[in-house]
Amino acid sequence: MKITFLGHGYVGLVTATVFADLGNTVHVIGHTKDKIDNLNKGIIPIYEPGLSEVVQRNIKSKRLFFTLDYSPYIQESDIVFIAVGTPPKKNGEADLTTVFEVAEKIGKNLSGFTVVATKSTVPVGTNKKVKEIISKTKPEKAEFEVASVPEFLREGSAIGDTLNPDRIIIGTESKKAEALLVELHKPIDGHFVLTNLETAEMIKYASNSFLAVKISFANAIAKLSELTGADGIKVLEGVGLDKRVGKEFLQPGAGYGGSCFPKDVKALISIAKGYGYKFALLEEVEAINRNSRNDIVRKAEKLLGTFKNKKISVLGLAFKSNTDDMRDAPSIDIINMLKEKKAFVQAYDPQAMNNAKKIISGIEFCEDIHHTVQDANLLIVLTEWNEFKEIDLREVKKLMKTPLIIDGRNIYDSEKLKKMGFTYLGVGR
Ligand code: UDX
Repeated sequence: MKITFLGHGYVGLVTATVFADLGNTVHVIGHTKDKIDNLNKGIIPIYEPGLSEVVQRNIKSKRLFFTLDYSPYIQESDIVFIAVGTPPKKNGEADLTTVFEVAEKIGKNLSGFTVVATKSTVPVGTNKKVKEIISKTKPEKAEFEVASVPEFLREGSAIGDTLNPDRIIIGTESKKAEALLVELHKPIDGHFVLTNLETAEMIKYASNSFLAVKISFANAIAKLSELTGADGIKVLEGVGLDKRVGKEFLQPGAGYGGSCFPKDVKALISIAKGYGYKFALLEEVEAINRNSRNDIVRKAEKLLGTFKNKKISVLGLAFKSNTDDMRDAPSIDIINMLKEKKAFVQAYDPQAMNNAKKIISGIEFCEDIHHTVQDANLLIVLTEWNEFKEIDLREVKKLMKTPLIIDGRNIYDSEKLKKMGFTYLGVGR
């Protein structure tokens, strides 16, 4: 099939590449010349394990192309995917400006019959608006149908998630569009849910919000376990083994971050508000998440007393491992709080340093783990990189001024560390 993608962020770039790898001819339209030039050379703007190789392979095989031009690719396409960003506005609402801008341009370039499918996370009702915009701008003879095909890939495991999704959601009012989208997705191993536009739009927000609920619930139980003397990790293991609950996304820690959960929880609160429903549960989920970040700083205060003239080393800046993404990473808030309290912070991340430098200032970015922990009064781990799990902690202890560790992702064995002479605080234990 001939497919066009609007947008080459995580969702656009990964799904476009996977569809090309499955044998389709895929054009990806961007709007920044430098980025498109780089992509055509196989240089991708994000760190995602394995992605660069698959992009390069498909460019070579002439199945994957990056361009600034809408014409003639939209006209020639069977399916056009909208995969542009929907960042949060100040009030939490999703900003749909780019979605509507590209819808207008798609409309102007349509020819024959085309399915226009939205992959971006958009509030209920957006695809109907996309349909209205295209109807107004399209050439008279061109025919089209809209569909909502939300994407559930996670950063760090994006290609695997796209090829083996738990489910493939296709929302559309048109049987013809549904059949075409089912055919495109057939080589992908996933359970199909065929439904209407509004349901598909809502499934994405409900899924991400539910996962955020699980994480905040885990963080609340972890907090209560710390207060009561229960082992929060064991409590959550015990809870998660019940198949009705499931053990995934019950890891307590510094809280959720990233480009999706914080934004989508806010957006669903805002969508609900628009319909006169106060989604208090999700407001509390956000509050618990903020507190999980604050708690890391409270623990640091408990260990150090004052931060004045204290060196705190932070291992891990990205919002999770296997990504260089710093969007809404807990490290940003935590480091800012430490700085405000006059701590001297030195930090390291295996992939996110360049992105972190654009967002965080007034700290020392170190080249490796050893430099980061050198002479530190306290070590805080904020991302669960394998590299950190494997460090020689005896060596770390020798380099640090005082052997204090706050393990914000529970990556270390607390008993082992205590035996080594560390004062160790995890989350929930
Ligand atoms: C998420 C969804 O998982 C994915 O389906 C959707 O398409 C996009 O949003 P992503 O943001 O890439 O994916 O990362 P994810 O692995 O879900 O983690 C999100 C955040 O939750 C991270 O900050 C992670 O550290 C945190 N998290 C996750 C926890 O704190 N505890 C957990 O048990 C799981």
